[in-house]
Formats: sequence, C-alpha cells, structure tokens
Amino acid sequence: MMTDDSVFNGFLIGVFVWAIGAIVVLRWVIAPYGRHQRDGWGPKLPTRLAWVVMESPASLLFAYFFFTGPNHTQIAPLILFGLWQLHYAHRAFIYPLQLRVKEGDSMTAAIALLGGLYCGVNGYLNGSYVGRLGTHLASAEWLSDWRFIVGVLVFFFGYALNKHSDHILQNLRKPGETGYKIPYGGGYRFVSAPNYLGELITWIGFALASWSLAGVSFVVFTGANLIPRALINHRWYQEKFKDYPPERKAVIPFLL
Ligand SMILES: NC(=O)c1ccc[n+]([C@@H]2O[C@H](COP(=O)([O-])OP(=O)(O)OC[C@H]3O[C@@H](n4cnc5c(N)ncnc54)[C@H](OP(=O)(O)O)[C@@H]3O)[C@@H](O)[C@H]2O)c1
Repeated sequence: MMTDDSVFNGFLIGVFVWAIGAIVVLRWVIAPYGRHQRDGWGPKLPTRLAWVVMESPASLLFAYFFFTGPNHTQIAPLILFGLWQLHYAHRAFIYPLQLRVKEGDSMTAAIALLGGLYCGVNGYLNGSYVGRLGTHLASAEWLSDWRFIVGVLVFFFGYALNKHSDHILQNLRKPGETGYKIPYGGGYRFVSAPNYLGELITWIGFALASWSLAGVSFVVFTGANLIPRALINHRWYQEKFKDYPPERKAVIPFLL
C-alpha cells in the first residue's frame, strides 16, 4: 500500500530525474517562450494568463499542504511559509500584470502546462515538508540554528537580486515599445541573467533554512533550467548587440 511518505519520496525522486532530463533536453532544444518564442510548438496562451497557469500551483498547493499539516502553528514553519509566498504569491498573481506585453503576445501552452505541473509538484513537496514532515522545523531551537538564520538571509539576498533585476528588465520598454535593449545597472554590471542568479540564490537560502531534500530538489531543478537558458540568452545578446559589454559573464560573476 502507498503511504503518504512513499508518495512524497516518489515525487521527490521524480523531480531529480526530471531535472537530469531537462539538462539533457536543453542541450538541443531552446524552450519556446519569451525571446525564443516560435511557431510549431502547438497552441498558445495569452502571456499573462500563461504565467498565472504556470506559477499559481506552487503558491496554492504549498498553502494547502502547509495548512493541513501539524507544523502550521509553529513560528519557523510560518516564517518559511511567508518566504515561499513572498516569492510565489508575487510571481503568480502580480508579476504577470507587471509584464510589458503587447497586444496578442502569447506563450506556448505546453510550456505553461509543463511549468504548472512542476510548480504543483514543487508546492506539494515543499508545503508537505515544511507543514508536516520537517519535524525539526517545529522546535523552538530551529529559530536560532545557524542554518535557519543564514538560510533566511541568503533567501532575502537572492530575492532582492531577482526582483531588482526583473524590475530593470520590465522598465527597459516604454509603454507601447517592443523589442530588446541592453540592460544596465545592478547585477547586470556582472552578468546577463542576474534575475536567474537571484532566483537560484533565493532557493539555496530556502533549502538551507528548511534543511530539506525538497528544497534541494528545487535548487537542482532551477539550475537545470535556468543555467542553460542564461548561457543561450548571453550568446543571443552578444550576437544581437555589437556593443554588448565584453566583461559581462552569463550567470556567475567572473566565472560563467
Ligand atoms: N525557478 C525556475 O525554474 C524559473 C524558470 C523560469 C523563469 N523563472 C523566473 O521568472 C522570471 C522571468 O523569467 P524569464 O525567463 O521570462 O526572464 P527574461 O527572459 O529575462 O524576461 C523577463 C521579462 O523581461 C522582458 N525582457 C527580457 N530581456 C529584455 C530586454 N533585453 N529588453 C527588453 N525587455 C526584456 C521579457 O520580454 P519578452 O517576454 O518579450 O522576452 C519579459 O517580459 C525570472 O525572475 C526567472 O528567474 C524561474
């Protein structure tokens, strides 16, 4: 008989396998959205709706599994719930409205549905862990544990970098403008994708603060998707703009 724990472990292993699959596939295929959107990938959804479909399961399923678990009255789990929603309530319900999209902009539906499927599994895994399985999180001592404190600080550093970098991108286009420009300032002084770097740091912080394999699975999945995309976008910038800053790296300052 399947127990709750075997379901959890099955999905956890599934995410690691999925991440390895993503690394392999993304060597040959560029995910068809944003600047790489192209025909031939089936039906499309309006861009803003696609972002809600893709990201809202992470917010909603985390909340469901968190509040149906015994940890939901304890302070450290509540803080982790707050961190998760700070990112995901924004990403699912506010970020789509902030995007500068033009009339008729769309995203490949398969990307939105696949993203939504992953976000649902991710919300389930991390919500179940923080709300129920992570018994160490419910103890008062966890609040003063270095892993929790450093993890929360790392989360906020990544969060600020991700949001500031996304904010710079959103303001490159004036209302009604289309096309792409070179972003400058903030993390763009060092890399072409500081928003992706910020996202990775955010979830490294969360994994540390929750000290969980569910958190680690999210870091691995995020890296598997965003590092290849950052490398492709970096090359795209270099080819498109002859005056692209030569010292800028793709995603890791001074290294990659
Ligand atoms: N955790 C994960 O696995 C994961 C996966 C994907 C995304 N994300 C997060 O979701 C957020 C958005 O990701 P994304 O891949 O859509 O980022 P992106 O390609 O950098 O685009 C973000 C927005 O900025 C616009 N934009 C990008 N570069 C521009 C430029 N040079 N000039 C003018 N406008 C520009 C894009 O317009 P267009 O749409 O017209 O290109 C889009 O509206 C990021 O914070 C990322 O970290 C997370």
